[in-house]
Amino acid sequence: MLMIVAIDGPAGSGKGTVARMIDERLGFTRIDTGAMYRCIALKMLRNDIALEDEEKIKEILSNTNIELKKENGELYVLLDGEDVSKEIRKPPVNSFVSPVSSIKIIRIKMVDLQRAMKDKAENIVMEGRDITTVVFPDADIKIYLTASLEERARRRYEELKESSVDTTYAEVLESIKARDENDMKKEMGALKVAKDAIVLDNTSVSIEDTFLMVKKIIEEKVRNVGRSN
Ligand code: DC
Repeated sequence: MLMIVAIDGPAGSGKGTVARMIDERLGFTRIDTGAMYRCIALKMLRNDIALEDEEKIKEILSNTNIELKKENGELYVLLDGEDVSKEIRKPPVNSFVSPVSSIKIIRIKMVDLQRAMKDKAENIVMEGRDITTVVFPDADIKIYLTASLEERARRRYEELKESSVDTTYAEVLESIKARDENDMKKEMGALKVAKDAIVLDNTSVSIEDTFLMVKKIIEEKVRNVGRSN
């Protein structure tokens, strides 16, 4: 059975890590849609393209190739063939990506690319902000993962520290707060809870237990589908 697991949630909710665990342990193909918006943001920064410059943005959208490639268990993000997996997680992109992802022509293009990925893979787990509401509103499983702002900032700060990015907890907190606000009030593709999504708040739940909860939901779905066939 081809299954789509859609996970939405704010930055630092653990959706990326859970999606990676579903990929590694359950054999799903993981699609990190945030990485796609990050690639466009990076390309705009590198080419000095302003948020208002629709012509140049259109040009970029027509000649950019984004690939999510898995090699030896690691997911690599390739922008026009270049490995940008690390660069797209750094502060310049962090603070630019949310306004970039609010631009309608960019969203339309990304949603098209994301929907097309369904044809390539077997079971997929796709994570982002509008997967349960816009990209795959009919996904087999829809999850909204969240945690308190402070806990999410703490997780992001730890991650950045581990990658030797020079920042402070206060900076990360402010950046996540700004991103939350922008992501939730976007005109198109705003982060919101789909009415039939399962909401999991993992503020005081470990990532392993969060994965186990999602795994149980997937297993139940498979059992129910088996029964109705
Ligand atoms: O998940 P992330 O933090 O890597 O996402 C980066 C940005 O892209 C974030 O500000 C929200 C935006 N985004 C979006 O608007 N829609 C998606 N499906 C995924 C990400």
